[in-house]
This record gives sequence, C-alpha cells and structure tokens, in this order.
Amino acid sequence: MKTVSKKIISLLLAVTMLVTCIPFAFAQSVDNWNEYWETADAKAGIIMFNGESDSERNFSWYTESEATPEIRLSTEEDMQDYETFMGYSVETYDGRFANKVTVSDLDSGETYYYQCISGEFTSSVYSFETDGDESFTAMYVTDVHVSYSDTDSNCIRDTAYNFDFTIEKALKTNDDISLILSAGDQASEGLEDEYIGFSASPFVKSIPVATAIGNHDLKGVAYKTFSNMPNQSDSKPATYIGNDYYFVKNGVLFLIMDSNNANSTAHRNFVKNAVKENPDVNWKVMMFHHDLYGGRIEHRESENALHRMLWAPICDEFGIDLVLLGHSHYYTVSNVLYNNKTVSSFTNGGTVTDPNGTIYMVSGSLNRPRDDENPPLGENVAIDYLTADKIYNLIDFTEDTLTVKSYAIESDVCFSSFTIEKTSDNGGHPDKMPAFYNFIIRFIGTIYEYFNNMGIYSNLTDKGFKVNFFDIVNG
Ligand SMILES: [Fe+2]
Ligand SMILES: [Fe+2]
Repeated sequence: MKTVSKKIISLLLAVTMLVTCIPFAFAQSVDNWNEYWETADAKAGIIMFNGESDSERNFSWYTESEATPEIRLSTEEDMQDYETFMGYSVETYDGRFANKVTVSDLDSGETYYYQCISGEFTSSVYSFETDGDESFTAMYVTDVHVSYSDTDSNCIRDTAYNFDFTIEKALKTNDDISLILSAGDQASEGLEDEYIGFSASPFVKSIPVATAIGNHDLKGVAYKTFSNMPNQSDSKPATYIGNDYYFVKNGVLFLIMDSNNANSTAHRNFVKNAVKENPDVNWKVMMFHHDLYGGRIEHRESENALHRMLWAPICDEFGIDLVLLGHSHYYTVSNVLYNNKTVSSFTNGGTVTDPNGTIYMVSGSLNRPRDDENPPLGENVAIDYLTADKIYNLIDFTEDTLTVKSYAIESDVCFSSFTIEKTSDNGGHPDKMPAFYNFIIRFIGTIYEYFNNMGIYSNLTDKGFKVNFFDIVNG
C-alpha cells in the first residue's frame, strides 16, 4: 500500500511539474520515467543549449513534420504577454525535422517560462532562470553514452533515464545548478534516437547544456542536426558534425572544442580570437572529449600522446585554468601542468593558489563506468578514483575561486575536491609560451586532419550514410 501511495504521489509530482513548471520537483522513479518516455515532449527531445552569453538560450527539438518553429517566452507562469521568437527547421537524416530557435535579450536574475511550438506540436510550459551575479555552479559529466541496442529495445530509454537520474541526484546536492557540461560521447552510435533520449530529461529543458563531440558521436551523423551551438567556428578542415564553439557565462569563458579534429592551427586561432574578444573574464575553461593524461588504457597511450602534442601548447599559450575531458572513462585530475610537465602538485582536498599552468580533469562514464585495474597512471596525476559507480561533478565559480567537487551516486559520497584560487587577473599563468611551441606542430596536426577525415568518411559510408567527402572536410 505504501509503495502504491508513493508511486501515485511521485506521478502526481511529475504531472504537477509538467503543468505548473516547478523546475526541480521532479521525483523521478523508473516507473514515472517509463510513462514520461511515451509523452510527446519526451519524443520531441527538447533541449536548451547555452547561447552566446547568459542573455541568450538556443533551443533544439524534433518534429515529424515540417513547420516554422517558434518559442513563446513569458515572465509569467500562465504565459500571459508572451513574446514570440521564430526559428528554422532542417530535415534530419532519419526524415524528422530538427527545429532551432534562439531567444535573446534576456534579463539577468529573471525566471522565464516558455513553450516550443511547431505545426501541430505544442510543448508543455517549461521554465528557466538567468544568473543574477558572478557566482554559479556548473555540473560536469562525461560519456553519458545513451545507447541503442539490437538486443534490448528499451536500452535508449533506460540509459537516458540514468542521465536524468544523475541530474536529479546532483540537484539534491545543489539545487542551484545553472549549467550542464557534457564532455562527449553523449550517444554510443551517434543515432538520432539516442540524441532524443539524451534530450528527453525535463532538466535539460530548464538548465542550459553544453556538449562536446566525442568519438562515438562521430559514429553517425545525427549530432549535426541535434546541436544548436553559439559562436561556432567555420574553420576547415573540420569533422562533419560540428566544430569548436564558445560562450561566456558570468565571467567564465567556456571553450568547447572538437578534439576529433586534429586541425590545431584552426583550434589555436579559434581560442586566440575568443580570448581576445573576452579579455575581462575571470576564468578560462576548456572542454573536449579526448583524454590527455589519465592513462590506464595502454593501447590508447599513443592517442593520448598525440592529443597532448596538439592541445597542451594551446592551453599553455592562452592560460587555460581547467580542462574538462572524457573518453577514458576513468576519473583522474592532473597536477598543474605546463609544457606537458608537472609544475606544481596538490592532493585531494587541496587548494592551488595562482597555478602556473593548467589542470586537466577526466570524469567517469555515466552508463559505461570502468573500474578494472589497468596499467598505472602517469606521474602527472594528482587525484584518481577507481569506481564502477556513476560520477557527477559540481564546479562552483566565484570571481577568484573555482572549486570542483566530485560525487559517486550509489555510495553517495563526495570523494574528491580541489580549489583553484587566483590573487590577480592572470593568476600564475606564465606570460610567454616556450619557444618549443611553434607552428610546425600545428601544421602537422592540420595535415593529419585531412587523413583523419578520410577515416571518418570511410567509417560513415561503410555504415550506409550518404555523405560527401568534401562535406566532411569542409565541416
Ligand atoms: Fe566513451
Ligand atoms: Fe570516447
């Protein structure tokens, strides 16, 4: 009887949330999720990405038929006096239509309510908040791996639930999360249905999301129509499904890079321009998919070495404070590194003041955690944590401190934390990059990218996707 009552209360809470848009009262059990999964809103995969700044939001959702999409936006819960923002739609590879709308000129410290409309489809009313001051908390996860399976017809639904459940757990720790960072491999096969699963959670309709492109996202072509990113690079050559992009949120420059793309000349120019455009930020945070220093997978060390060669010089040159990574599925935090070497070390719970380099961090995979003891980690690792548990990380940003706390869901513990503190604008970042970092490395990376794209092209055509090689090269 107790269980039945609980179920009814939970379902009522869920329905209440959808009708009255209480953002975080969504007590989500598996049963509720499975019911919610069948709703039109879940099938539409509405997702809210960060816009160029906190005064913008970029939306994306799917419909079966084509129509000009719009978002109705209001500061009133009953949607009185709404403003309409029009967008456009693109036909997807699977024959759906991906709808894109940007809402702009948002006031800070405000709660907004919105509905997505496209032809016959009208969504429930959702809400989101804009930031009011310079302190905020971001949630960082990686390798969510929403997964299609030939043998389990519910695999996408169930792996999507794990993402929703993780966000819910994180919100119980801190109900003020205002950004979700996902460092790639959102989907295992790069399929549209997997991205709809990734976008199904009601939380990604109220908290803006930023995703990086993982190697698994590149197994299909659906990421290209799923995404709606601000300030996206148009550099060439680039991978087919996306490119680098950036946004600024309350004094933090987020540089989201495509590490499937080895064109480091373009990456460097992109970062240089973004840093030049935003000289007054407190923090520079980069996120991309491939691991650099995590180790534990021996056969990947050559891949890690390549990425170290391409990315570390860019992070050194532009004084990146923190780099968020994925791919290895092993949790590790590096020492403070410069020129690929440890320049200062710290331990779990420690504070680094004015670091003279960059900290690189990898979180574990949500749906595919690894806890097998593989070869030992390299000498550059400050903190590691081996677990089969799902991990989420909360990053608290203030003007002069950045604190990362990492949590394991089942054991419900904060197993790792560290703080970066700055006492001046530049912190301890060196003004000059070492002479070793010259254009030759970037030139080699750019040439390599042309060969890399041949591999991507054959991978996609082998799977039956009709893509043009020059589309891939041109991005
Ligand atoms: Fe992965
Ligand atoms: Fe990966």
